[in-house]
Amino acid sequence: MRVIVTGARGQLGTDVVRLLDMQGEIVYAADLADMDITNAQSVESFFHAHPADAVIHCAAYTAVDKAESEPELCRLVNETGTQHIARAAEAAGAKLVYISTDYVYPGEGTQPQSEDTTPAPRNVYGRTKYAGELAVQQCSRLFILRTSWVFGLHGNNFPYKMLSLAKTHDSLCVVNDQVGSPTFTEDLASLICRMIRTESYGTYNVSNEGFCSWYDFAETIFHKANLNITLKPVSSEAFAAAADRPRNSRMSKDALCKAGFERLPRWQDALDRFLSRALMKES
Ligand SMILES: NC(=O)c1ccc[n+]([C@@H]2O[C@H](COP(=O)([O-])OP(=O)(O)OC[C@H]3O[C@@H](n4cnc5c(N)ncnc54)[C@H](OP(=O)(O)O)[C@@H]3O)[C@@H](O)[C@H]2O)c1
Repeated sequence: MRVIVTGARGQLGTDVVRLLDMQGEIVYAADLADMDITNAQSVESFFHAHPADAVIHCAAYTAVDKAESEPELCRLVNETGTQHIARAAEAAGAKLVYISTDYVYPGEGTQPQSEDTTPAPRNVYGRTKYAGELAVQQCSRLFILRTSWVFGLHGNNFPYKMLSLAKTHDSLCVVNDQVGSPTFTEDLASLICRMIRTESYGTYNVSNEGFCSWYDFAETIFHKANLNITLKPVSSEAFAAAADRPRNSRMSKDALCKAGFERLPRWQDALDRFLSRALMKES
């Protein structure tokens, strides 16, 4: 199989490229320097030079708080850039995987949200990612994966931030009223690589199993890493991040199961695998 991976040097893209390589697929890894997705000509040329059977679209503007002050750039990458990718993938007759987010959901209540929940994003990033979902609807072989709280060995993410803050702080305030599910890039990449070999097209919620707050996540990171940090729970209002975030990021995985895909492992198990390598890299 010949596969184009956008955002190939991002935290998810890196693991997708590596896994496809290991599985013996022909991988066309593209990051900003190879193909600027905001430039239609650049996308057209890359697709022309690299005929593909599948496209895994991991490139995105992902700075959720910064997006509030640069909405045009965020929209250009996440909506216009995705339009270009969708058009090129369809013209090539390729399957397309679009990586979306739990931030498309309204995030009210406490029940897990299903793929049928009407999207109502609360921030600029979420709105542009949902606009990206609408842009890919023109594609006939389409997988939309809504994922959440992504962490991997190659990128900026919450566990790395906690480990880094632990070097200079004895105590930390962490938000405890946003509840969702962490997602390890290696587990997500493995599901994506299984999916592209099927024709089970559709929209799926995908994350590691189990729910926690950011506070619970931080507590578990420090416990597993044997770090003695005093944690103080704070509300989203008190934390005052630039972007509003849903309090309820719980997602149901019924669609995934119905389509015959295995659920991802529990988030604590994923965190163990992440930490064993992240801490080894540090030492
Ligand atoms: N991170 C999360 O918590 C999270 C949660 C839910 C969903 N997602 C979604 O999951 C996907 C992967 O996220 P991630 O965490 O792996 O993101 P990431 O690490 O920020 O990687 C995004 C990649 O996109 C590239 N990119 C940005 N603008 C581009 C452009 N104009 N043309 C080509 N490439 C461009 C970036 O390159 P540069 O580094 O050179 O800018 C980077 O390599 C994204 O679709 C994201 O929206 C992420």
